[in-house]
Amino acid sequence: MSTAMQTRGAFDVALIRDEFPILEQAVNDRPLVYLDNAASTQKPEAVIRAIADYYRRDHSNVHRGAHTLADRATAAFEQARMDVAAFLGGAKREEIVFTRGTTEAINLVANAWGRTHLGPGDEILLTAMEHHANIVPWQLVAEATGAVIRVAPVLENGELDLDAWKALLSERTRIAAMVHVSNALGSINPVADMVAAARAAGAVTLVDGAQAVNHFPVDVHALAADFYVFSGHKLFGPTGIGVLYGRESLLDAMPPWQGGGEMIERVSFEAGTTFAGLPWKFEAGTPHIAGAIGLGAAIAWLNGIDRVAAAAHEAALLARLDAALAGMNDVRRIGTAPGRVAVASFLLDGAHPTDVGMLLDQQGIAVRVGHHCTMPLMERFGIPGTVRASFSIYNTFEEVDCFVAGLDKVRSFL
Ligand code: ALA
Repeated sequence: MSTAMQTRGAFDVALIRDEFPILEQAVNDRPLVYLDNAASTQKPEAVIRAIADYYRRDHSNVHRGAHTLADRATAAFEQARMDVAAFLGGAKREEIVFTRGTTEAINLVANAWGRTHLGPGDEILLTAMEHHANIVPWQLVAEATGAVIRVAPVLENGELDLDAWKALLSERTRIAAMVHVSNALGSINPVADMVAAARAAGAVTLVDGAQAVNHFPVDVHALAADFYVFSGHKLFGPTGIGVLYGRESLLDAMPPWQGGGEMIERVSFEAGTTFAGLPWKFEAGTPHIAGAIGLGAAIAWLNGIDRVAAAAHEAALLARLDAALAGMNDVRRIGTAPGRVAVASFLLDGAHPTDVGMLLDQQGIAVRVGHHCTMPLMERFGIPGTVRASFSIYNTFEEVDCFVAGLDKVRSFL
């Protein structure tokens, strides 16, 4: 297919790809076909440059020094926070806490909020499609507090059983934590409805947006979630940086999680320690300054893209792959929920997902295979794992066709 045919309005895949130097390489003597975007997206030149420029010109520690570089680093770091706040629909600076990623953000809430608000018999409502990052921190806090975890089931097509989820909500539910978009299946949960129902039941809500923010705009006010979390590296930004959005009143009432420099107001052996205001109360130690700046650059880059057209492009890629997979008798698709985004998960008869992944890699095609850190979900489908192809905005229709041809080649080895 020609480049011109891939252009959708102002959205030109070829131009976008040009901004990602990593995509221009050969792997195993074949042009790289990168279909592991749910694990991590690649980085545009603008992000790579922002990080390099920061280290070349402006690096120093933040919030401490009385010198020019410290001022520049602090200004850039805090500007990144404002960029994140705007990206989430106009949150307040106080509501944006930088973390290492989604996992750390959930651990922060589970510990700082959970250990002060949960007690014996209180319920934590999860879904069966959660990533381990939105399961294990709650298991740890449940063990420590005597709280109980309830799990809403997933339907055969990979959609959440919303009626069952609602039936599990009760006056005992203290927190409902749910994934916005499933990393393993691409199913989108109706989180605005779920948040409203949970709130009506008196529960606090946490939404794991790790697989959502890179596919469509998210407005935390419209969702009305109490906590919303995501990672930078799945949003074209660096690894090691993520975001916890928290409603100001909740964050304010929570004790700190980790202690150290940066998060204090005054430390005294005699008088004890008082803590910094929001959001710094939750940012102990030197933060990932370059990571935050890189994330800010990723958001600026994404803001320059027509996101409606980008979402349409991703949907068209998925539709093309879905149509091909649906015509294959030896393929069992896992997750066919309507409207799902950017993920095709499946099993090939007679082949372990790991072998499929290896044989695809020999052809330069990168996918993730295995349980995708969603073991309970795999258990629900009675499978050890899947082959998962996941798209981003720089993928092309040729790559979809190449993947389909790659599967044919895999078959020839079976
Ligand atoms: N959570 C990431 C994935 O789904 C790593 O691959």
